[in-house]
Amino acid sequence: MSDIATLTFEGKSYELPVVTGTEHERAVDISRLRQDSGLITLDDGYGNTGSCQSSITFIDGEKGILRYRGYPIEELAEYSTFPEVAYLLIFGDLPSPDELAEFRAMLTEHQFIHESMRHHFEGFPPDAPPMAILSAMINTAGCFEHELVEPSNDAQFKDQAARLLAKVRTIAAASYRMSMGLPVNYPRADLSYTANLVHLMFSMPNSYGEPSPELVRALDQIFILHADHEQNCSTSTVRMVASSQANLYASVAAGVCALWGPLHGGANMAVIEMLEHIRASGEPLEKFVQKVKDDPRHTRLMGFGHRVYKNFDPRAKIIKAACHQVLSKLGLKDPLLDIAVQLEETALRDPYFIERKLYPNVDFYSGIIMRAARIPMPMFPVMFAIGRMPGWIANWREVNMNAKSRIYRPRQIYVGPTARPYVKLADRVQGR
Ligand code: ACO
Repeated sequence: MSDIATLTFEGKSYELPVVTGTEHERAVDISRLRQDSGLITLDDGYGNTGSCQSSITFIDGEKGILRYRGYPIEELAEYSTFPEVAYLLIFGDLPSPDELAEFRAMLTEHQFIHESMRHHFEGFPPDAPPMAILSAMINTAGCFEHELVEPSNDAQFKDQAARLLAKVRTIAAASYRMSMGLPVNYPRADLSYTANLVHLMFSMPNSYGEPSPELVRALDQIFILHADHEQNCSTSTVRMVASSQANLYASVAAGVCALWGPLHGGANMAVIEMLEHIRASGEPLEKFVQKVKDDPRHTRLMGFGHRVYKNFDPRAKIIKAACHQVLSKLGLKDPLLDIAVQLEETALRDPYFIERKLYPNVDFYSGIIMRAARIPMPMFPVMFAIGRMPGWIANWREVNMNAKSRIYRPRQIYVGPTARPYVKLADRVQGR
């Protein structure tokens, strides 16, 4: 296998090294291309650009493979818990029982937010989008850390990673409680990470029911499935911010903003809106799918399609099964699940979706589980953000631990006006 690619341009040849990953993916290293030839590469949306070498997550979009640190997502979703997967992603290996116990104890120890942070919540209007609150409050939490971490110090980093993971969940639940005008709950020491989230969101001072184990397990699985996904929009944002040596809190707060959009973490909400629209309007599924095909820029089949998966999204398979399982265990019936299943079948029969290799992604079914857990729709992307936190933390550290790391600074091809003489204000034509 050749490890050199040759580019010929204007009669000259340039040899470009080919870099091969551990799973045999290959990339042309163009880091000297501009220096040698004056050319840059142009790749709108970065569909063909490898922005880094990473040892965290592997995806084969053609075969529908997703592995965290080498472990298949299917096995992690079945046998692990979210804190275990978070440990794996952040520190590189599955924890031993002692390591996991220590990590869980750290999550419990750090789960409270500073009391004065409650006043910050009061400043938001009741209908403020929870993703805006989450991003702002993560930066606020960073202000309460007197010493920001030295990335190469293992103990400091571990402490800060645990603090962030623990507090993010407390912040997320508090934003929901404040938006509902409900008293903010304190986390409990006797509950798991995810059971605590359910408690923080739903316990009332006069009713302290135990969270349903089925729902807790389903939410835990959702977090596991969202925990990392290599160089997606939000993770690339975290890495971009990290490359300027910004601190962990600032970097993941930026990640939350990137995740917010409906083409990324906001898609789980958009799927439910779409299914509710179909149910309320009684619109036949074929007609809805036709509308999507006629104008996909304006009406997308939300929860379908993926930049990387061109076969199936392995997370969607797991989540679809979990969805059926949790509803049946809880004895719930959600008409949106039936619509989703039929819509999926209708789309997968249609040449438009077949030709473009569009399959359900992780968001197609996750919202139905969250509805079963009574999580309000504006909080769906927040759940995604809690799940994605370990991946962001792991990527932040990878950037910081890379001795060759440079500030991320892409180039561009300028297509605006060429140089023109400045016109003083008085000389400019009115109403132009
Ligand atoms: N519905 C209808 N058509 C679609 C859809 C969709 N959901 N997704 C892609 N297409 C079409 C495009 O119109 C395009 O068609 P064309 O070749 O005729 O122009 C073709 O499929 C390729 O689509 P792109 O937009 O180029 O794919 P891209 O990789 O840029 O986008 C994305 C991927 C954003 C996920 C897209 O599929 C989409 O918008 N899906 C719906 C939103 C969604 O579910 N987002 C969640 C993604 S997963 C995640 O973030 C966790």
